[in-house]
Amino acid sequence: MTQGIRKAVFPVAGMGTRFLPATKANPKEMLPIVDKPLIQYAVEEAVAAGVTELIFVTSSSKRAIEDHFDRNFELEYELEQRGKQTLLDIVHDILPSGVNCVYIRQPEALGLGHAVLCAKSVVGDDPFAVILADDLIDGGRHGCLSQMTELFTRQQCSLLGVEEVDAQETDKYGIVRLEKKSQRLGRVEQIIEKPRIDEAPSNLAVVGRYILTPRIFALLENTDKGTGGEIQLTDAIADLLEEEVVMAYQFDGQRYDCGSKLGYLKATVEYALKHPQLKGEFLQYLRGFCLPAE
Ligand code: UTP
Repeated sequence: MTQGIRKAVFPVAGMGTRFLPATKANPKEMLPIVDKPLIQYAVEEAVAAGVTELIFVTSSSKRAIEDHFDRNFELEYELEQRGKQTLLDIVHDILPSGVNCVYIRQPEALGLGHAVLCAKSVVGDDPFAVILADDLIDGGRHGCLSQMTELFTRQQCSLLGVEEVDAQETDKYGIVRLEKKSQRLGRVEQIIEKPRIDEAPSNLAVVGRYILTPRIFALLENTDKGTGGEIQLTDAIADLLEEEVVMAYQFDGQRYDCGSKLGYLKATVEYALKHPQLKGEFLQYLRGFCLPAE
Protein backbone atom coordinates (compact mmCIF):
# COMPACT_ATOMS: atom_id res chain seq x y z
CA MET A 1 0.00 0.00 0.00
CA THR A 2 1.37 3.46 -0.85
CA GLN A 3 1.79 5.95 1.97
CA GLY A 4 1.28 9.72 1.92
CA ILE A 5 3.03 12.35 4.01
CA ARG A 6 0.97 13.70 6.91
CA LYS A 7 3.70 14.92 9.28
CA ALA A 8 6.20 17.72 8.80
CA VAL A 9 9.04 18.69 11.12
CA PHE A 10 10.05 22.35 11.28
CA PRO A 11 13.43 22.70 12.98
CA VAL A 12 13.35 26.25 14.34
CA ALA A 13 15.80 25.98 17.21
CA GLY A 14 18.87 27.45 15.49
CA MET A 15 20.45 30.60 16.90
CA GLY A 16 20.10 32.70 13.76
CA THR A 17 23.44 34.39 14.39
CA ARG A 18 23.56 35.92 10.89
CA PHE A 19 20.60 38.11 11.83
CA LEU A 20 21.77 39.37 15.23
CA PRO A 21 20.69 41.57 16.89
CA ALA A 22 17.25 41.08 15.26
CA THR A 23 17.25 37.45 16.41
CA LYS A 24 18.36 38.08 19.99
CA ALA A 25 14.83 37.85 21.39
CA ASN A 26 12.91 37.05 18.18
CA PRO A 27 13.17 33.82 16.22
CA LYS A 28 14.61 34.15 12.70
CA GLU A 29 11.56 32.26 11.43
CA MET A 30 9.30 35.08 12.62
CA LEU A 31 11.02 37.63 10.38
CA PRO A 32 8.37 38.85 7.94
CA ILE A 33 8.51 38.80 4.17
CA VAL A 34 6.24 41.78 3.52
CA ASP A 35 3.43 40.89 5.97
CA LYS A 36 3.82 37.19 6.79
CA PRO A 37 6.50 35.52 8.89
CA LEU A 38 8.77 33.01 7.17
CA ILE A 39 7.38 30.16 9.28
CA GLN A 40 3.86 30.85 8.02
CA TYR A 41 4.95 30.52 4.38
CA ALA A 42 6.54 27.18 5.31
CA VAL A 43 3.42 25.98 7.13
CA GLU A 44 1.17 27.02 4.21
CA GLU A 45 3.39 25.05 1.82
CA ALA A 46 3.14 21.96 4.06
CA VAL A 47 -0.63 22.22 4.52
CA ALA A 48 -1.11 22.63 0.75
CA ALA A 49 0.83 19.38 0.34
CA GLY A 50 -1.61 17.52 2.63
CA VAL A 51 0.33 17.71 5.91
CA THR A 52 -1.94 17.70 8.97
CA GLU A 53 0.56 17.40 11.81
CA LEU A 54 3.06 20.22 12.24
CA ILE A 55 5.96 19.38 14.54
CA PHE A 56 8.04 22.37 15.58
CA VAL A 57 11.43 21.75 17.16
CA THR A 58 11.93 24.91 19.17
CA SER A 59 14.18 26.46 21.78
CA SER A 60 13.60 28.70 24.77
CA SER A 61 13.68 31.92 22.71
CA LYS A 62 11.04 30.78 20.21
CA ARG A 63 7.85 31.38 22.17
CA ALA A 64 6.65 33.80 19.48
CA ILE A 65 6.18 30.86 17.07
CA GLU A 66 3.80 29.07 19.45
CA ASP A 67 1.91 32.31 20.00
CA HIS A 68 1.66 32.93 16.26
CA PHE A 69 -0.14 29.63 15.63
CA ASP A 70 -2.32 29.93 18.74
CA ARG A 71 -5.56 31.88 19.12
CA ASN A 72 -5.31 35.48 20.37
CA PHE A 73 -8.76 36.09 21.85
CA GLU A 74 -8.03 39.67 22.92
CA LEU A 75 -6.94 40.70 19.42
CA GLU A 76 -9.86 38.85 17.82
CA TYR A 77 -12.33 40.55 20.20
CA GLU A 78 -10.89 43.99 19.44
CA LEU A 79 -10.97 43.43 15.67
CA GLU A 80 -14.56 42.18 15.90
CA GLN A 81 -15.63 45.19 17.98
CA ARG A 82 -14.11 47.51 15.39
CA GLY A 83 -15.75 45.68 12.48
CA LYS A 84 -12.41 44.75 10.91
CA GLN A 85 -13.66 41.55 9.30
CA THR A 86 -10.87 41.22 6.70
CA LEU A 87 -8.19 41.46 9.38
CA LEU A 88 -10.12 39.06 11.59
CA ASP A 89 -10.20 36.53 8.74
CA ILE A 90 -6.44 36.94 8.21
CA VAL A 91 -5.83 36.20 11.89
CA HIS A 92 -8.28 33.25 11.92
CA ASP A 93 -6.92 31.67 8.76
CA ILE A 94 -3.33 31.38 9.96
CA LEU A 95 -4.01 27.72 10.70
CA PRO A 96 -6.77 25.79 8.91
CA SER A 97 -9.01 23.50 10.94
CA GLY A 98 -7.92 19.86 11.08
CA VAL A 99 -4.25 20.81 11.37
CA ASN A 100 -2.48 20.14 14.67
CA CYS A 101 0.68 21.69 16.09
CA VAL A 102 3.12 19.90 18.37
CA TYR A 103 6.05 21.71 19.99
CA ILE A 104 9.21 19.95 21.14
CA ARG A 105 12.17 21.62 22.77
CA GLN A 106 15.69 21.08 21.50
CA PRO A 107 17.55 21.68 24.77
CA GLU A 108 20.77 22.77 23.07
CA ALA A 109 21.50 23.88 19.49
CA LEU A 110 23.52 20.77 18.64
CA GLY A 111 22.78 20.90 14.92
CA LEU A 112 20.04 20.23 12.38
CA GLY A 113 20.46 16.44 12.67
CA HIS A 114 19.96 16.62 16.43
CA ALA A 115 16.91 18.89 15.98
CA VAL A 116 15.29 16.33 13.64
CA LEU A 117 16.12 13.54 16.11
CA CYS A 118 14.23 15.46 18.81
CA ALA A 119 11.03 14.84 16.78
CA LYS A 120 11.47 11.04 16.79
CA SER A 121 8.81 10.15 19.38
CA VAL A 122 6.15 12.28 17.66
CA VAL A 123 6.96 11.16 14.11
CA GLY A 124 7.05 7.48 15.10
CA ASP A 125 7.12 5.01 12.23
CA ASP A 126 5.84 7.24 9.44
CA PRO A 127 7.74 8.82 6.58
CA PHE A 128 7.80 12.57 7.18
CA ALA A 129 8.81 15.90 5.70
CA VAL A 130 11.42 18.32 7.03
CA ILE A 131 11.04 21.96 6.08
CA LEU A 132 13.59 24.67 6.84
CA ALA A 133 11.55 27.86 6.93
CA ASP A 134 14.51 30.08 6.14
CA ASP A 135 14.61 28.53 2.66
CA LEU A 136 11.57 30.27 1.24
CA ILE A 137 10.46 28.60 -2.00
CA ASP A 138 7.99 30.16 -4.37
CA GLY A 139 6.73 27.18 -6.36
CA GLY A 140 3.86 29.12 -7.89
CA ARG A 141 0.58 27.23 -7.72
CA HIS A 142 2.32 23.95 -7.06
CA GLY A 143 4.49 24.31 -3.96
CA CYS A 144 7.82 22.53 -3.61
CA LEU A 145 6.56 20.12 -0.94
CA SER A 146 3.47 19.28 -3.02
CA GLN A 147 5.77 18.35 -5.90
CA MET A 148 7.81 16.17 -3.55
CA THR A 149 4.86 14.43 -1.84
CA GLU A 150 3.45 13.54 -5.26
CA LEU A 151 6.77 12.01 -6.19
CA PHE A 152 6.88 10.19 -2.88
CA THR A 153 3.56 8.44 -3.58
CA ARG A 154 5.21 6.95 -6.68
CA GLN A 155 8.76 6.39 -5.42
CA GLN A 156 8.17 5.50 -1.73
CA CYS A 157 11.72 6.47 -0.79
CA SER A 158 13.52 9.38 0.84
CA LEU A 159 13.68 12.50 -1.33
CA LEU A 160 15.92 15.55 -1.08
CA GLY A 161 14.99 18.90 -2.63
CA VAL A 162 18.04 20.11 -4.61
CA GLU A 163 19.09 23.00 -6.82
CA GLU A 164 22.21 24.02 -8.70
CA VAL A 165 24.34 26.58 -6.88
CA ASP A 166 27.43 28.54 -7.93
CA ALA A 167 30.55 26.37 -7.66
CA GLN A 168 31.99 28.86 -5.11
CA GLU A 169 29.02 28.25 -2.81
CA THR A 170 29.27 24.49 -2.28
CA ASP A 171 30.79 25.04 1.17
CA LYS A 172 27.45 26.36 2.42
CA TYR A 173 25.37 23.27 1.58
CA GLY A 174 25.07 19.51 1.59
CA ILE A 175 26.16 18.53 -1.93
CA VAL A 176 25.06 15.39 -3.77
CA ARG A 177 26.45 13.21 -6.54
CA LEU A 178 23.80 11.41 -8.53
CA GLU A 179 23.93 8.05 -10.26
CA LYS A 180 22.21 9.50 -13.28
CA LYS A 181 19.54 12.08 -13.62
CA SER A 182 16.46 11.68 -15.75
CA GLN A 183 14.72 15.03 -16.07
CA ARG A 184 14.59 16.41 -12.53
CA LEU A 185 15.10 13.20 -10.56
CA GLY A 186 18.15 11.09 -9.77
CA ARG A 187 19.35 8.49 -7.28
CA VAL A 188 21.83 9.89 -4.76
CA GLU A 189 25.18 8.05 -4.72
CA GLN A 190 27.04 10.38 -2.39
CA ILE A 191 26.23 13.29 -0.10
CA ILE A 192 28.77 15.47 1.65
CA GLU A 193 28.28 18.40 4.03
CA LYS A 194 29.73 21.77 3.05
CA PRO A 195 32.58 20.54 0.77
CA ARG A 196 35.22 22.97 -0.47
CA ILE A 197 34.98 23.76 -4.16
CA ASP A 198 37.79 21.29 -5.00
CA GLU A 199 36.12 18.49 -3.01
CA ALA A 200 32.53 18.99 -4.17
CA PRO A 201 31.20 16.07 -6.24
CA SER A 202 28.84 18.44 -8.11
CA ASN A 203 27.11 21.78 -7.68
CA LEU A 204 23.75 20.20 -6.76
CA ALA A 205 22.91 21.46 -3.30
CA VAL A 206 20.33 20.15 -0.86
CA VAL A 207 18.06 22.99 0.23
CA GLY A 208 15.54 23.02 3.04
CA ARG A 209 13.07 20.38 1.82
CA TYR A 210 13.35 16.69 2.68
CA ILE A 211 11.09 13.67 2.78
CA LEU A 212 12.66 11.01 4.95
CA THR A 213 11.84 7.47 6.00
CA PRO A 214 11.81 6.86 9.78
CA ARG A 215 15.00 4.79 9.46
CA ILE A 216 16.84 8.13 9.63
CA PHE A 217 16.21 8.31 13.40
CA ALA A 218 18.22 5.18 14.24
CA LEU A 219 21.05 6.54 12.08
CA LEU A 220 20.89 9.98 13.69
CA GLU A 221 21.19 8.36 17.12
CA ASN A 222 24.60 7.06 16.02
CA THR A 223 25.76 10.17 14.17
CA ASP A 224 28.75 11.91 15.73
CA LYS A 225 29.39 15.62 15.58
CA GLY A 226 30.53 16.60 12.10
CA THR A 227 31.19 19.85 10.25
CA GLY A 228 31.08 22.86 12.58
CA GLY A 229 30.96 20.57 15.63
CA GLU A 230 27.22 19.94 14.96
CA ILE A 231 25.23 16.73 14.48
CA GLN A 232 24.56 16.97 10.77
CA LEU A 233 21.47 15.61 9.03
CA THR A 234 23.65 15.22 5.92
CA ASP A 235 25.88 12.67 7.70
CA ALA A 236 22.88 10.53 8.70
CA ILE A 237 21.57 10.72 5.12
CA ALA A 238 25.00 9.51 3.94
CA ASP A 239 24.46 6.42 6.14
CA LEU A 240 20.90 6.02 4.87
CA LEU A 241 22.26 5.77 1.31
CA GLU A 242 24.01 2.55 2.31
CA GLU A 243 20.69 0.95 3.27
CA GLU A 244 17.92 2.52 1.21
CA VAL A 245 17.29 4.35 -2.05
CA VAL A 246 17.47 8.12 -1.63
CA MET A 247 16.50 10.31 -4.57
CA ALA A 248 17.29 13.97 -5.27
CA TYR A 249 14.63 16.09 -6.90
CA GLN A 250 15.35 19.37 -8.66
CA PHE A 251 12.13 21.18 -7.82
CA ASP A 252 10.33 23.71 -9.93
CA GLY A 253 10.35 27.11 -8.19
CA GLN A 254 12.44 30.00 -6.97
CA ARG A 255 14.29 29.62 -3.68
CA TYR A 256 15.34 32.52 -1.48
CA ASP A 257 17.98 31.91 1.17
CA CYS A 258 16.32 33.96 3.89
CA GLY A 259 18.88 32.78 6.44
CA SER A 260 21.22 35.28 4.78
CA LYS A 261 20.65 39.02 4.70
CA LEU A 262 21.01 39.27 0.92
CA GLY A 263 18.57 36.42 0.25
CA TYR A 264 16.14 37.91 2.74
CA LEU A 265 16.25 41.28 1.01
CA LYS A 266 15.77 39.71 -2.44
CA ALA A 267 12.70 37.83 -1.17
CA THR A 268 11.29 40.98 0.40
CA VAL A 269 11.61 42.96 -2.84
CA GLU A 270 10.23 40.20 -5.07
CA TYR A 271 7.30 39.33 -2.80
CA ALA A 272 6.46 43.03 -2.46
CA LEU A 273 6.40 43.26 -6.27
CA LYS A 274 3.84 40.40 -6.29
CA HIS A 275 1.72 41.69 -3.40
CA PRO A 276 -1.76 42.63 -4.68
CA GLN A 277 -2.11 45.85 -2.63
CA LEU A 278 1.51 46.92 -2.74
CA LYS A 279 2.99 46.06 -6.13
CA GLY A 280 1.96 49.17 -8.11
CA GLU A 281 3.19 51.75 -5.63
CA PHE A 282 6.28 49.75 -4.73
CA LEU A 283 7.29 49.37 -8.38
CA GLN A 284 6.86 53.09 -8.87
CA TYR A 285 9.03 53.73 -5.82
CA LEU A 286 11.73 51.30 -7.01
CA ARG A 287 11.82 52.85 -10.47
CA GLY A 288 12.23 56.32 -8.99
CA PHE A 289 14.90 55.07 -6.58
CA CYS A 290 16.91 53.09 -9.14
CA LEU A 291 16.76 55.40 -12.14
CA PRO A 292 19.18 58.33 -11.92
CA ALA A 293 17.44 61.71 -11.66
CA GLU A 294 17.57 63.66 -14.93
P1 UTP B 1 21.28 27.26 10.10
O1 UTP B 1 22.47 26.57 9.60
O2 UTP B 1 20.65 28.27 9.20
O3 UTP B 1 21.60 27.89 11.52
O4 UTP B 1 20.21 26.14 10.46
P2 UTP B 1 20.86 29.00 12.32
O5 UTP B 1 21.29 28.89 13.72
O6 UTP B 1 19.37 28.94 12.11
O7 UTP B 1 21.36 30.37 11.68
P3 UTP B 1 22.84 31.05 11.67
O8 UTP B 1 23.65 30.24 10.71
O9 UTP B 1 23.37 31.02 13.07
O10 UTP B 1 22.57 32.43 11.19
C1 UTP B 1 19.42 25.52 9.48
C2 UTP B 1 18.07 25.17 10.08
O11 UTP B 1 18.24 24.24 11.15
C3 UTP B 1 17.67 24.73 12.35
C4 UTP B 1 17.60 26.23 12.17
O12 UTP B 1 16.56 26.77 12.97
C5 UTP B 1 17.37 26.37 10.68
O13 UTP B 1 15.99 26.23 10.36
N1 UTP B 1 18.52 24.29 13.48
C6 UTP B 1 19.87 24.41 13.38
C7 UTP B 1 17.94 23.78 14.61
O14 UTP B 1 16.69 23.68 14.73
N2 UTP B 1 18.75 23.37 15.64
C8 UTP B 1 20.09 23.46 15.56
O15 UTP B 1 20.77 23.05 16.52
C9 UTP B 1 20.68 24.01 14.41
